[in-house]
Amino acid sequence: MSDVEVKYTGPERVFSGVQPTGNLTLGNYLGAIKRFVPLQDEHECLYCVVDMHAITVWQDPAELARATREVTAAYIACGLDPKRAILFNQSKVHAHAELAWIFNCVARMGWMERMTQFKEKSGKHKERSSLGLFAYPALMAADILAYKATHVPVGEDQKQHVELSRDIAQKFNMDYGVQGFFPLPEPVIQGAATRVMSLRDGTKKMSKSDPSDMSRLNLTDDADLIAKKIRKAKTDPDDLPSDEDGLEGRGEARNLLNIYAALSDIPFGDAVRQFGGKQFRQLKEELTELTVAKLTPITDETRRLMSDTAEIDRILNDGAERASALAEPIMKEIRRIVGFV
Ligand code: TYM
Repeated sequence: MSDVEVKYTGPERVFSGVQPTGNLTLGNYLGAIKRFVPLQDEHECLYCVVDMHAITVWQDPAELARATREVTAAYIACGLDPKRAILFNQSKVHAHAELAWIFNCVARMGWMERMTQFKEKSGKHKERSSLGLFAYPALMAADILAYKATHVPVGEDQKQHVELSRDIAQKFNMDYGVQGFFPLPEPVIQGAATRVMSLRDGTKKMSKSDPSDMSRLNLTDDADLIAKKIRKAKTDPDDLPSDEDGLEGRGEARNLLNIYAALSDIPFGDAVRQFGGKQFRQLKEELTELTVAKLTPITDETRRLMSDTAEIDRILNDGAERASALAEPIMKEIRRIVGFV
């Protein structure tokens, strides 16, 4: 075995995933799905609905099936083209489960114990969490590496998991003496809204699992509900500052401006200048108008697509076939490397 790292020389490939649990939020849209769209013109892209990740916490089976189709519909409504990008659900491609097991045997307990998402999700009841929740990042590494994906567009909260995939890839390459076999995947975390915060608390991430629905904008909210949530969003007593330094310690103001910038595709600094010296009321009015204009067509299109679930299933089957065709030759090599006859 050599200490010199042999570089991966294969093609660039993009992989990312979204869990079909609850409603998709504005955070999922701005932090991930909106950013998936332009990549499909530049790279080979796989976008997965990760139903196997979802069952690491209890899911009602009928609701899981519905949500899997709904995330697929939302992918398409947001601009993903099932002809260009490969859209599929994880459980249909067996390579994910098979490689996850191998990675369970590569990853170390200590690495998993450091994962902040596991700590947050298991909370005080670590002993009662599923084993799957603990092993979750090894499955995520398998998702990415079953295709030798090199680039992983995600929101800020998934950075640690993508970095763990790099550690797993590197250890596999080292342990089996196959330097350069797996790429070390790069997290791609770009844009104004890599961390959209709660509307009720500028220090907390906007999340599907927050008990308060008023804390988030869902891709299923109608115009009235969007207006209500933005009107009630937490603010502070001062007018908006004219420069970014003035946002120090003002998480709620920063978040609303961030959302405004990301939805209107302008740099954050421009949004700050545009509202400098103005009252929150004005920002909220313009943000409501913008959010309704951007989200309503997506909501409507998602609903329209959901009226034909047979077509969604056809898209998922087609995507799974194409994904399997990419993963199978890689899995063949992996089985040989590991010594499976
Ligand atoms: P999930 O389903 O929690 O979220 C999907 C994507 O949305 C991003 N996101 C956010 N971005 C900005 N602000 C927010 N408030 C916000 N909330 C969510 C997430 O960062 C993510 O990109 N483990 C992953 C799914 C996954 C995956 C993968 C991702 C499974 N396998 C392989 C990439 C590659 C997850 O639970 O994402």
